[in-house]
Amino acid sequence: MKLTLRDLEVRGKRVLVRVDFNVPVEERDGKIVITDDTRIRESLPTINWLREHGAKTILTSHFGRPKGKRLDKYTLRPVADYLHTLINQPVIFSHDTIGEVPEKIVAHMQEGDVALLQNLRFQPGEEANDPKFAEALAKLGDLYVNDAFGAAHRAHASTAGITKFVPKAAMGLLMEKELRYLHEELDRPGKPFVVIMGGAKVSDKIGVLKALMEKADTILIGGAMANTFFKAQGIPIGASRVEAEKGDLANELLALAKKRDVKLVLPVDAVIAQEVRAGAPSRESGRLTPDHGIPDGWQNLDAGPETIALFEGEIAIAKTILWNGPLGVFEIPDFAKGTFAIARALARSNATTIIGGGDSVTAVRQAGVADKMTFISTGGGASLELLEGRELPGVAALTDKD
Ligand code: 3PG
Repeated sequence: MKLTLRDLEVRGKRVLVRVDFNVPVEERDGKIVITDDTRIRESLPTINWLREHGAKTILTSHFGRPKGKRLDKYTLRPVADYLHTLINQPVIFSHDTIGEVPEKIVAHMQEGDVALLQNLRFQPGEEANDPKFAEALAKLGDLYVNDAFGAAHRAHASTAGITKFVPKAAMGLLMEKELRYLHEELDRPGKPFVVIMGGAKVSDKIGVLKALMEKADTILIGGAMANTFFKAQGIPIGASRVEAEKGDLANELLALAKKRDVKLVLPVDAVIAQEVRAGAPSRESGRLTPDHGIPDGWQNLDAGPETIALFEGEIAIAKTILWNGPLGVFEIPDFAKGTFAIARALARSNATTIIGGGDSVTAVRQAGVADKMTFISTGGGASLELLEGRELPGVAALTDKD
């Protein structure tokens, strides 16, 4: 068991909090606009707890991949301004991450104040997990809290190295919640436990699928990933996106499912088109078999109506559902039907519904059913690694409870 925020005496203390403010942004009329603020909002319980308990809160995050260079494009200042409006209190922005500038800011902070440091990844020491950088960062706090679940799979200075230089390293409230759902809840899921796996590549999901075979009753496969399975089964896939070399992987998974008595369900039909663009002529494929596959030049871009009905049937009887990855190219409305139908089926179900990060989170939001889900993870890669059963360096490095 790891120390949590509630185990800390924070009044009057400088608490350095690693958050994941790596949020999607867009430039509109020369201004940076945050297009999805979920990660910032989900950090509020920890930030507010610290404010209410009289801490001096120093937030630190990465943003994008500037690779150790100071690039204006990746400044965290817009996030500081945005956080200001969310908490209704000024957020002191330090335009340096370590050194004199933040040291001075921190020295002048009062109880309840909140500061945000410049992007950690402007410093090469962050991703290199350089102990010197970790030590300089640690100097800014009396205590350290990691609430950056989305970055917990990275062994970087601010997530792993730093814990050697602070007296206590605890997990924040978001980190705690993520682990409760993705780890504890899925360790003993209510049965039937149905997993929906979509997305482009089998190779990205192989570890997760293997690990989930230990617990799942049913696994529904969707997205371009299904093409690799089709190909392995001799179903023509036309010009569909496929990992041509991964047929063995697909067969291995099919065999494993059989051995473990897991029902592995592939799509039975598709929505196909010759081009991946809005307005491209599209049609339903009909039932896919080795004799009736996807024609040459056509691509599988969404789940077909029979597949949707089949998946809805499995979802309706589930007690626990984990969803990761869309069922089609849902960014284009013409090919979003399958993904949104699944989102709505999850919203209708009485099961515990867990959305395992990444694109499926966007899909659930776009379908307008996010508030109907039991839990939506803020982690992409981190949630996949956790589901794979891997230890997350950002969690492992925290202080154990006595
Ligand atoms: C994410 O967006 O998944 C996390 O913030 C981690 O970002 P990274 O993949 O650049 O390390």
